[in-house]
Amino acid sequence: MKKNIVVAASGSGSNFKALIDATQTGILNAKISGLIASREDIGAVQFAIQAAIPVYVLKNEPSSLGDQILEAMENFGGELLVLAGFLRKIPEEVIQKYSDRILNIHPSLLPKYGGKGFYGIRVHQAVINAGETHSGCTVHLVNEDYDQGRILAQKTVEVRHDDEPIDLAARILREEHQLYARTIQQYLESLNA
Ligand code: GAR
Repeated sequence: MKKNIVVAASGSGSNFKALIDATQTGILNAKISGLIASREDIGAVQFAIQAAIPVYVLKNEPSSLGDQILEAMENFGGELLVLAGFLRKIPEEVIQKYSDRILNIHPSLLPKYGGKGFYGIRVHQAVINAGETHSGCTVHLVNEDYDQGRILAQKTVEVRHDDEPIDLAARILREEHQLYARTIQQYLESLNA
């Protein structure tokens, strides 16, 4: 029986799209049963519509974010919550209910360049400013501490001397698309073992 995965996204949704593709090629043996979207005008919603995946659009109401996510997980029969460029902090009640069942992908080699304020292009700008020769991406479990849950997988990417943040972001994003699907699949297999 395939597990139901719910994806949460706030942006262009390229990781979400890569996960949809991975379920179709069989790299990820799971069903994406729903998308939780920060807003209805984000790219991820378009990918969901194309793939006939139901969407739950969050209300801009921070105090009820936890209830909204719990309701969406319930509606979609979600067994795993996969954050794919989701930029809101997951409330504690959700983390408690889905302990070890929430995964995130982050565009750096955690624990470096993680935590509050480090998201999207800001991460890559900080890496370049610091003169790092390598960066990458990390898939990790989500706990109460931002970007500090158990690391499941990482992929290292070279930082080139003439890289602008968008160049590095694009090179890392390509690796994210591969790493996330494979790591989710391995994690699901480890839960069944
Ligand atoms: C990805 O690079 C993801 O790692 C990052 O946002 C981007 C979303 O792109 N996530 C974070 O920075 C989380 N702290 P996408 O919408 O095209 O998948």
